[in-house]
Amino acid sequence: MNGIWAILVAAGRGERLAADRPKAFVAFNGKPLLAESLSRLDRSDLVTNLVVVAPPGWEEPAILCAEDESASKVVACVTGGDTRVDSVRAGVAEVPSGAAVIMVHDAARPLVTDEVIARVLGAIDGDVDGAVPGLAIPDTIKRAPTGIVEQTVSRDSLFAVQTPQAFRAEIFRRALAEVSDAATDCAGIAEAVGARVRVVAGEPRLAKITTAADLALVEELARQ
Ligand code: CTP
Ligand code: MG
Repeated sequence: MNGIWAILVAAGRGERLAADRPKAFVAFNGKPLLAESLSRLDRSDLVTNLVVVAPPGWEEPAILCAEDESASKVVACVTGGDTRVDSVRAGVAEVPSGAAVIMVHDAARPLVTDEVIARVLGAIDGDVDGAVPGLAIPDTIKRAPTGIVEQTVSRDSLFAVQTPQAFRAEIFRRALAEVSDAATDCAGIAEAVGARVRVVAGEPRLAKITTAADLALVEELARQ
């Protein structure tokens, strides 16, 4: 597949991490968190080009980070928006019309691997428009809208989804133009216009850093 454009969304404020800077720039094993996913995506033979979406005022540090990592595939560093969907839109605006696939990844998941990228991209074939990594849910799930359990939900067909998430560029652009800003992941955006999205095997190491405890945990995973 030609023209795989990766969008690295790093424009969140990191409110739950509550550091003195946006989450993508907190120290992760001695470097800005952004550096880890940026260098991994840049080194992947499967990725053609890379767009980084930075928080307002942090575009320059993001560019310096790409230079420090010798990330030669970064073609643009743009300013993100108030919501994740806005930030994805800002990144996608930099992708040329000839691109085949758009793959969106959270800077908050630093330990992205070539294997998961290959699984996600490999699943886009035939009538499948997009793919996301997912993990089975180990806990029992209850539905309790008022706090009182109404139902125990079967876990059999449930997945906790991660990034990178990839889609045929054409359908993803159309979805972005139509969807509301409330979608919490890119598959939700694509599903809204009827895209067929496949779940492939995710990885526990792709855990998202949300809190300070997650940061310590994923730093430890990176050292293993
Ligand atoms: N993101 C973004 N633009 C936003 C919001 C989120 O680019 N307006 C990115 C984040 O930088 C992160 C990913 O989307 O890489 C997942 O978001 P999340 O983990 O929620 O990060 P934050 O929004 O930064 O954290 P918080 O919700 O705690 O403020
Ligand atoms: Mg957020």
